[in-house]
Amino acid sequence: MTSFRVAVLISGTGTNLQALLDQLHSPGGPIEIVGVASSRPEAQGLRRAEAAGVESATFPLADHESRETRDQALGDWLDSLGAHLVVLAGFMELLTPEFVARFEGRIINVHPSLLPEFPGLRAIERAVEARVPETGVTVHFVDEGMDTGPIVLQQALELSYPADIAEIEERVHGVEHRLLPRAVQLIAAKRVHDE
Ligand code: GRF
Repeated sequence: MTSFRVAVLISGTGTNLQALLDQLHSPGGPIEIVGVASSRPEAQGLRRAEAAGVESATFPLADHESRETRDQALGDWLDSLGAHLVVLAGFMELLTPEFVARFEGRIINVHPSLLPEFPGLRAIERAVEARVPETGVTVHFVDEGMDTGPIVLQQALELSYPADIAEIEERVHGVEHRLLPRAVQLIAAKRVHDE
């Protein structure tokens, strides 16, 4: 059997990476997490990769001449792993249009809002400031825009006011940890594609 090879890009804690490792990863099995790349060398998620025996690498912008050369090196590393799918799981940097084009239809992101509402940073806080009755989580393909690509899966969460941001973040994370692995499974099973 050929494994569906998944690479994960992170910048921080990596709880979504952990969900993918716990729920999907099996070396040589149907879905294998073949590599974890971080934009920050101190990211806690790198330790999760190590604990799972998954190859990892760091690509801080400061180590490269430009974002273009960084993304070129990152793309070369992902290709060397034979990644079929690249998952942005809390990767907090913009990727160049060249990188996005290189992996077109093969990169997904998890975002803590019901896109197209609240793209970009502080999505949960901005939803609460707007006093919307619900927010949620979106897994979507990545295009050149900011959180604008075709949606794979979405799940809503009710909000009540006054809102407790920490409690909402916890619920959002709970949803992310179910939705992101489910989206990867659907893509691996060729039940969804970017069109
Ligand atoms: C998640 O909330 C995700 O929606 C956002 O970044 C956060 C990453 O969390 N893009 P973690 O590092 O997976 O714990």
